[in-house]
Amino acid sequence: MKDKLIALQEEALQAIKQATRVKDLQDTKVKYLGKKGPMTEVLRGMGKLSAEERPVIGQVANEVRSAIQIAIDEKQESLQAEEMQRKLEQETLDVTLPGMPQQVGHPHPLTLVIEEIEDFFLSMGYTIAEGPEVESDYYNFEALNMPPDHPARDTQDSFYITEEFLLRTQTSPVQPRSMEKQNGKGPLKIICPGKVYRRDTDDATHSHQFMQIEGMVIDRGIQMSDLKGTLERFAKEMFGEERDIRLRPSYFPFTEPSVEVDISCSICQGEGCSVCKKTGWIEILGAGMVHPNVLKMAGFDPEEYSGFAFGMGPDRVAMLRYGIEDIRHFYTNDIRFIQQFNR
Ligand code: DAH
Repeated sequence: MKDKLIALQEEALQAIKQATRVKDLQDTKVKYLGKKGPMTEVLRGMGKLSAEERPVIGQVANEVRSAIQIAIDEKQESLQAEEMQRKLEQETLDVTLPGMPQQVGHPHPLTLVIEEIEDFFLSMGYTIAEGPEVESDYYNFEALNMPPDHPARDTQDSFYITEEFLLRTQTSPVQPRSMEKQNGKGPLKIICPGKVYRRDTDDATHSHQFMQIEGMVIDRGIQMSDLKGTLERFAKEMFGEERDIRLRPSYFPFTEPSVEVDISCSICQGEGCSVCKKTGWIEILGAGMVHPNVLKMAGFDPEEYSGFAFGMGPDRVAMLRYGIEDIRHFYTNDIRFIQQFNR
């Protein structure tokens, strides 16, 4: 029996020595020391031994068992160390290599200009209003004093979606939308920045999609001088204290009187250059006193209330501000263009 145990030990140690994975060791342990293994069998047969033999064999059996266990433990440790070594070699990290530069985001130049314009008007007590880009014919034209056969509709080539709905050609429809919410009561002081769409052929100065910022003030006793003072402050704030503005008579169906507003050229200081086409002035917006029909249709009494409105193009402001020569740069999303701008 003693020989059998020694042979078993030899066999087990050999198997342990040859194991290449931790899993092999576990199998070996189950095979030799497990409940159904040969060791258990030997120990079970102890009952049949004589009283002198029993302690001797018992001791040998214990020695064999612990020799196998120790061999398994040692082998397991060395296999785990080997495995760790292999992993470390595969996953080496060279901390001396240069890092990957993080891409930093840049604000779009139109966002910069629009936020600056918003800040100015918010500081003057205006709130920001919004309206849908898919607009009804009523708000885009009719409520702005442009009935279906009005010739001014032709100046804004539209993308119609159905007979009744179109992509708004201007942010002006936010005027009647905002007025209606007032139930005929002032004051109302809003600006509305947003996208507008026109069926134009894209070139350096035209884009079928561009931005506008609408402004409107309604209250008792609002006069043309309020409009002029507001726009003068705005021009100086945006383009420098030395700037002047000039108002030229113009026509818009929703304002009467209507004006076009120019600022003195910030590039040549009014001397005349290619940007201002040698005139010393640059047109920046359209404006006027809100037409009584527009007030009436939106529920205001023109005998009691008056107001002014204006509409400007942030694309043009951004082009002037940053010396951008082609409006299409704003909408083609070339990352090299955007990356030049920072707050
Ligand atoms: N909506 C006009 C346009 O797109 C711009 C404009 C002119 C807006 C005069 C106004 C205004 O509010 O009073 O050409």
